[in-house]
Amino acid sequence: MPEKKRVAIIGCGRMGQHYAGAYDMFEDTEIVAIAEYNDARRKVVGERFGVTALYKDANELFKDIVPDLAAVILPGKYIKEAVIAAAEAGVKGVSSDKPIAATLHDADEMVNICEARGVIFHGGNLQRASHEIQETANRLRQGWYGKILGATLHAWGSSEISGGGCQELAVLRLLTSAEVTEVISWAGPQDVLESDSDEGLFVHALFRMSNGLECPVSAHSIGFGGLDIWTENTLIRCKGPKVEMFQGFDGDGKRTQVDPRFSDFPWPRFNYLGSSIRSLISAVDHGSEMAISGHDLRQSLEIAIAAKYSALWGSVPVKLPLADRSLTLYPHTYRWLGGDQSGNPQTVEEARSRSLQN
Ligand SMILES: NC(=O)c1ccc[n+]([C@@H]2O[C@H](COP(=O)([O-])OP(=O)(O)OC[C@H]3O[C@@H](n4cnc5c(N)ncnc54)[C@H](O)[C@@H]3O)[C@@H](O)[C@H]2O)c1
Repeated sequence: MPEKKRVAIIGCGRMGQHYAGAYDMFEDTEIVAIAEYNDARRKVVGERFGVTALYKDANELFKDIVPDLAAVILPGKYIKEAVIAAAEAGVKGVSSDKPIAATLHDADEMVNICEARGVIFHGGNLQRASHEIQETANRLRQGWYGKILGATLHAWGSSEISGGGCQELAVLRLLTSAEVTEVISWAGPQDVLESDSDEGLFVHALFRMSNGLECPVSAHSIGFGGLDIWTENTLIRCKGPKVEMFQGFDGDGKRTQVDPRFSDFPWPRFNYLGSSIRSLISAVDHGSEMAISGHDLRQSLEIAIAAKYSALWGSVPVKLPLADRSLTLYPHTYRWLGGDQSGNPQTVEEARSRSLQN
């Protein structure tokens, strides 16, 4: 049995408890400390996971303890400070979650400091880490389905292109092995477009990609939301973390759905958070590629910002990487400030009762 990785959870709200549950489940990780602003929640969650090293925030925690891994699961406004504190404290790996920031300048700072200090910067609980998506990406790279001919994105972001929309963007880049190099977009309603938030923003767009693909993007659902990629012999349909495949045609010329025969997933309880964390641990131990990195979260944010500003400026083509790293796109208030500050707090009872599941 390898030595256990010592983990600190920074932010123990709803999602932080989900992370804590996953780290608690793995035999080679142990939660050694928790940083959490909310006194009552900190106490209950500490009891729930048997952690006694409890701190108010990341800076206090790192003064006392330098864990191997720090999982930062904070509202967006507080992510940067905690990620940088973890990197400067000397952790081996630090994770963030979506959306990583409101400006590229802040995202760059986190990526650059982690890189300069040799700290693995992980992207967290993103659908891109689902084993179905990862297996599909590997098969595409190995040529199972032939050349990619097209890609299209439906119901992009479900009216929050940064907060939720970063999911599909991370999957699009992975499956096409390409970067978005230019964005042209059309968006509304106008009052939301002119605001600094993505809350309620609907965006249609065309993404030009580094491999020559042009990916049309629609704000609307066509009965499902997600990403379609078609190759010489297969239509690959990603609905969130799930993947459907179609190969060949029936007598009426209609595509036939086939069983992709994905391998069994060893950690179904925490779904893609489980595989995401395993990829972080493997990156720390072996330097392997992560299912989702902090860099990937930044790339998603960059595409979302380009889409917002292209529409705002009159549907002008916007080239990536963006030269102006100060352009801003805030996620909705819950994501930016958290439940306590946006009128949707998790009660102590909820935080405690979840313990039945752990
Ligand atoms: N990947 C996903 O699918 C997914 C889903 C939901 C939320 N999220 C992201 O997870 C993050 C947290 O969301 P949540 O639902 O857990 O919110 P939450 O409000 O339930 O929890 C946030 C917690 O962080 C604490 N906190 C805030 N600032 C702090 C600080 N500086 N130091 C220590 N503790 C601090 C709060 O007291 C709260 O307990 C957000 O960034 C959100 O966008 C991701």
